[in-house]
Amino acid sequence: MPPLEIARLALLIVHFLGLAAMLGPFLLQIRSREALRLRLMLTGAIVQVVTGNALIASRRLQGLEVDEIKMIVKLGIALVALGALIAAIVLQRRRGADTGSVRPLFRAAGGLGLADVIIAVVWA
Ligand code: HEM
Repeated sequence: MPPLEIARLALLIVHFLGLAAMLGPFLLQIRSREALRLRLMLTGAIVQVVTGNALIASRRLQGLEVDEIKMIVKLGIALVALGALIAAIVLQRRRGADTGSVRPLFRAAGGLGLADVIIAVVWA
């Protein structure tokens, strides 16, 4: 197997781990009333943006097709989710525990992550 193809498959595995790191804590805490733990979600969101772009590069370098519009939409959604998580963590740090706006930001980040899964699978 060519090295670039091995790299693409390794990146895809890390892309799935990033998905799990982002959406696992979201689903676990969605009904919880305790202070939200957002660090793993943040790591997952960063992993998705980094591995997503690296996947595009590994596909291009092998001459595999890349759906530009789909990628721009996925990247835009992932960056907004990342921004929401950073804002939620900053708010939590400044004000101590959860304030009114931390949970909406948490829900927005999780919802956008789910939207990116649906787009990844459904957008042919
Ligand atoms: C929360 C954010 C994200 C989630 C949940 C997600 C989810 C997924 C899933 C489930 C797949 C496998 C299905 C498929 O092959 O289409 C996938 C593949 C892929 N994703 Fe993402 N993704 C995210 C963000 C991104 C970003 C930001 C980019 C690029 C900027 C990206 C680029 C790609 C590429 C290029 C593939 C195809 C890999 C291949 O088969 O060669 N993803 N993503």
